[in-house]
Amino acid sequence: MRRFPAEFESLLTAEGRRVLAGTHAACGALADPRRRFVALDGLVDRDKALAAAALLDRKLRPHLEAMARPIPPEAIADMTESQTDLLPKTARMATAYLDSRREPAYAVAWGLGLVAMLHSASYRAFAAALAGRPLKAEHGIQVLRYGAGDYAGPHNDHHPEMPAAKAGYFDLHLGIATPDVAHQWLVYAKAGHFTEMVSVAKAGGITAYRLPFWHYTTPLVAKRGRAASAARWVVLGTFLYTAGRGSR
Ligand SMILES: [Fe+2]
Repeated sequence: MRRFPAEFESLLTAEGRRVLAGTHAACGALADPRRRFVALDGLVDRDKALAAAALLDRKLRPHLEAMARPIPPEAIADMTESQTDLLPKTARMATAYLDSRREPAYAVAWGLGLVAMLHSASYRAFAAALAGRPLKAEHGIQVLRYGAGDYAGPHNDHHPEMPAAKAGYFDLHLGIATPDVAHQWLVYAKAGHFTEMVSVAKAGGITAYRLPFWHYTTPLVAKRGRAASAARWVVLGTFLYTAGRGSR
C-alpha cells in the first residue's frame, strides 16, 4: 500500500460492509445505554490492515510525538493515609493529532491519504451505524502507536470542561497490531469493577467506545526477540452526538 484508499469502505470485508448496510448485528450496539464498549473482528481486511500499518511505520512514525506520563512520585510521597491512593492518568505511547495543519504529522498524513479517508462518507457512516445515534458533522482524528511496553493506565476520557463533550461522546478505533505482538489487552469497568477484558492484538480490530467510562490498555508485549518491530497502530475518530438528547 502506498496510500490509504479514499473511502474507509475499501478496507472493509464483506462482513464490515454489512455495518454500512445496517444489517450487521453490531449496528446500534452502543445506542443501548447499558453498553459502553464493543470490540469487533473480521470487519476490516487483515491484509489491507497490515499493509496500512507498514505504510504508517515507514512514513508517519518519524513524525509522531512521544507521549510519556509516568506515575508522579507525589502519588506516594504525598499520601497521608492508607487506602487513599489517587492515580492520575498515566500513559506511554507515540501519537499525532491530525486536526490541524499546524500539527507536525499533518502534512505527511494528508499526503498518505489518511486524513481524507478518516473524513470519508463511509467512515462517518460506519461510526454512526455502531453509535446508533446521529453524530455531529465535524469529528476529531488521531493516530497512536504502541511499541513494546507502551500502555495507557486507568482513565475515563471524561472532559467535563468541554460543554460539547461533557455529556458523553463516541470514539471509533481501528487497531492494527503487527504479527510481532504477543499480546495487549483492553480492560474496562462494568458495574464499577474492572472485570471486562478483550484482546486488542488484532490486525484490523474495530473497537467503539461510548465515553466516558473507566478503562486501561495493558503494556504491549512483543514476541520473543521482536521488541523492535512489535507495534500496534490505532487510527481513531472522536465524534460528538448531535444535540437534543443526553448521552448517558
Ligand atoms: Fe481511553
